[in-house]
Amino acid sequence: MGICDRIYERWMGEVQRRKIEFLLSAVRPEGLVLDVGAGPGFLSEYIPVVSVDVSEAVLSAKGYKVIGSGNRLPFKTGTFDFVFCVDAFHFLSGAGELERVLKHGGKLVISQFTTRYDEGKTLREIEKSLESARPVDRFFLRDPEPEVVLVAEKI
Ligand SMILES: C[S@@+](CC[C@H](N)C(=O)[O-])C[C@H]1O[C@@H](n2cnc3c(N)ncnc32)[C@H](O)[C@@H]1O
Repeated sequence: MGICDRIYERWMGEVQRRKIEFLLSAVRPEGLVLDVGAGPGFLSEYIPVVSVDVSEAVLSAKGYKVIGSGNRLPFKTGTFDFVFCVDAFHFLSGAGELERVLKHGGKLVISQFTTRYDEGKTLREIEKSLESARPVDRFFLRDPEPEVVLVAEKI
């Protein structure tokens, strides 16, 4: 793990774990779960997931991990029951690959940091990027920091 990854893990770990605890209580994932832009794998501390990241920080994740891009996922279409993308969606060119690897009826959970002034805009931008999933739930977090969460179901 590089120095930036270590700093992120140390400084943001508590904040990210609190967000993830909220997501898990709100969504209750089951089945095969993918975490795209997983960083050091905070989600993998709670549930079994496949973790993907362009950074080798992902090698710290528990369980199955892959160094790869969320813009070109190395998985077959319709593989996963849940796909999470926590604070990494701004790095992606859209939701297309996240949706592709979901099974029909599977859930996409995009959680994205924002500001209190931009939360509506951030959510609209994420919703606009959906191609084959329809929004089923939305959450606005203020604590530990402003964050919007979109839950969408693959059609
Ligand atoms: C702000 S961190 C979030 C990490 C983790 N999801 C969390 O909640 O702490 C964003 C992560 O996205 C990763 N990333 C950037 N571009 C990516 C891409 N094209 N595909 C997958 N991951 C990417 C970065 O390496 C980084 O680990």
